[in-house]
Amino acid sequence: MFLVHNQFNWEEPFDALVIGIWDQPVRWNGLLGEVNDRMNHQLESIFKAGEISKKEKSIGSIFTLGSYGARKIITVGLGKKGEASIESVRESLGKAFKHLNGKAETICVDLSSFLNDSLQAEEIAFALGESLALSTYSYSGYKQKPNEPVKAIEQVTVVTAEDREEFTSVLETGYIYGRATNSARTLVNTPGNMMTAADMAEYAKNLADTYGFEVEILEKEDMEKLGMGALLAVNQGSTEPPKLIVLKYQGRPEWKDVIGLVGKGVTFDTGGYSLKTKDGIVGMKTDMAGAAAVLGAMEIIGETRPEQNVVAVIPATDNMISGNSFKPDDVITSLNGKTIEVSNTDAEGRLVLADAITYAKHHGAEYLVDVATLTGGVIVALGTHTTGAMTNHEAWFEQVLEASYHAGEPIWRLPITDKDIKRIRSSKVADLINSPGGREGHAIMGGTFILEFAEDTPWVHLDIAGTATSKGSYELGPSGATGVMVRTLATLVEGFTPIK
Ligand code: BES
Ligand code: MN
Ligand code: ZN
Repeated sequence: MFLVHNQFNWEEPFDALVIGIWDQPVRWNGLLGEVNDRMNHQLESIFKAGEISKKEKSIGSIFTLGSYGARKIITVGLGKKGEASIESVRESLGKAFKHLNGKAETICVDLSSFLNDSLQAEEIAFALGESLALSTYSYSGYKQKPNEPVKAIEQVTVVTAEDREEFTSVLETGYIYGRATNSARTLVNTPGNMMTAADMAEYAKNLADTYGFEVEILEKEDMEKLGMGALLAVNQGSTEPPKLIVLKYQGRPEWKDVIGLVGKGVTFDTGGYSLKTKDGIVGMKTDMAGAAAVLGAMEIIGETRPEQNVVAVIPATDNMISGNSFKPDDVITSLNGKTIEVSNTDAEGRLVLADAITYAKHHGAEYLVDVATLTGGVIVALGTHTTGAMTNHEAWFEQVLEASYHAGEPIWRLPITDKDIKRIRSSKVADLINSPGGREGHAIMGGTFILEFAEDTPWVHLDIAGTATSKGSYELGPSGATGVMVRTLATLVEGFTPIK
């Protein structure tokens, strides 16, 4: 996909040459200056006429009409030079790739035009790789007449002064991050009848085959023997058997300092007897986006092979209604022995996560992150661009926060107070209640419940109910699943340092 050149080749017939334009008077030096010369200073007059916007994320298109090899110049507005963040560059590039996808097969990017004082060439190269995969993703679905296949971008030549070999591998790693995010998106976009717990287990097994992960799939009978009463309760009304999926990647000599990644894998959430409304139920095929994020991160880990130990645990089931279903008022016993009063069968995510977190600890997880489309409450609190986070450990949270910043996937912390813990322990008939009454602090209640199972193990909870899907298309993808947290989790694992 990527070629790195130290100089622009004027002869090569690129479909497009992509150049970043800062919001400042254009200096007619470097590649832009030479382009201008070869176009008899026409470029300069186009700029002078104000026909090319330098505003962040604005795209301009100029035909070269045979002046040299490249057919077109695509300008990418980058905004004020001092203010640009790596995220804005990633999005600007995404917009350019989206614009070119279907129209161009070979493109050349002048990387030096994207540099400023705070953005390093390597960072930009990584963002370029990510952005190329992310922005050109589409989900094909199951139409009998599929959409016309688009002429996809086939080759990106990057012009930079940097070392070519090193640079190619940075671009490729960025591309791996983007592609794995797309894998997660496809898992989430797939309809519930085609993404059952068994389908997800099959997918995980294939991943394990490809990358040499150790894999364990617990069947319903295994869960019964172990006593996973919480996961089993959620599955009770279903005709689809549950699966508990475990993938292990060992990148250190010893099985120590193990990171546990736990993802909610509810393949369809009806709410159970605490039934969702006819509007609220639509879209609940995406209730396994946490599981998809973990599987996407494992794909990256399989490709990049960091020197870390990771265990991924995914509780997979749907949440259905039948004569066998669990009901409000039921009391169930989870894997760690804690009993739970079920006041709301629609608060099922925390139940399946409870057993999965306990099981991750059984597998040696010493640092935990769970990712889940857990509560509508987090959407009310933080909207659809920011993932809700909760923790029991400052230093571990710092590492997750840092990773999320690098990935451009913002998270924001919500508190857990002693009074919240008291609420979750306020059942008259069991140790815990899965949803204490009232509408107050739903997101916090969800996290607080899971804390009862993480206990003293450093843990961060990521509630992606608002961020896992997007209503509209955006710079780095179409509407539908976003694949959020794939890149954050992979970045976290990559840069992880054990906390004493
Ligand atoms: N899967 C839902 C959360 C959700 C809502 C995800 C909207 C994506 C979009 C979860 O299982 C749920 O139903 N949560 C309840 C919790 C409540 C019953 C305490 C909610 O948020 O209403
Ligand atoms: Mn639910
Ligand atoms: Zn759910």
